Amino acid sequence: MAREYELKPAPGLVDEAVSGGQTTINRRQFLRYGFNTAAGVLTASIGVLGFAAILLPPGGSGGGDLAVQFWAKGREDEAWYGAKHLQPMTKADFVAEAASSSTGTSGASGVWNGVPVVVMYVEHSRNAGTPESNGKARFQFTEGYDETGKYVGHFEDLADADPRLMPSDDLVMVFGRCTHLCCIPGWQLVSNSFTEDSWTPGGGDDGGTKLFCICHSSRFDPTVLEMNSNRNRSTGATFKYAGIKRAGGPAPVGLPIIPIQLNGDTIEGLPDYVDWYTFCD
Ligand code: FES
Repeated sequence: MAREYELKPAPGLVDEAVSGGQTTINRRQFLRYGFNTAAGVLTASIGVLGFAAILLPPGGSGGGDLAVQFWAKGREDEAWYGAKHLQPMTKADFVAEAASSSTGTSGASGVWNGVPVVVMYVEHSRNAGTPESNGKARFQFTEGYDETGKYVGHFEDLADADPRLMPSDDLVMVFGRCTHLCCIPGWQLVSNSFTEDSWTPGGGDDGGTKLFCICHSSRFDPTVLEMNSNRNRSTGATFKYAGIKRAGGPAPVGLPIIPIQLNGDTIEGLPDYVDWYTFCD
């Protein structure tokens, strides 16, 4: 039977997360929006998070906390990380969960400086040297095409310029708002009717674990890293970014990566690409 991972972060987020009203924002407003639309639940549970910190470089003097925390509010009894709500994420958490998975992958919703995120682990190091035909999940680095089919570029062009964009220790983190309607959905990492438990290359709907947006059923492949483009809703300017590939559904493009690093075994996000997360109203 296909395995299903429940990653829904919190009841009530879906309806409250669909954007409405405001049409222009600046970067700081964007960060605040990402926080506020994640419902008062976040505000009440976490308190005032350091939005300034997200604008600081790693090691900046503002004391920003770069650690990523699990978010399992309302799912404490269901999510595999339910007992770890608001605890810092560690690689060991994901490795242990992946070991119990038929796909060798694991994922969890999180919060990072008030921003919703999803972190996924893929046994890339173990599987990258094996034939693709064995169905073992590994990362792929590909060309990207925008929603009109126009070629944008290759992920490795961005990673060559900044190697921190490569998956860190078999982990990848993405911004947790859908590129369709900016939903902060009950993200689920699924192997269900859209997919099979065996991984297949290419980022299509066939095979492998997909990140699934429950709002309107968009699917994203966390194993396919590409370059793509999106639009800043405040300025209208387009920008290129590194992201995971859209596999299906109404979302026009994939989800942007937030580069990470390990501090010991703790997963930390790096705040260098804030502009990539400005596609929401
Ligand atoms: S908001 Fe995710 S599919 Fe519509």
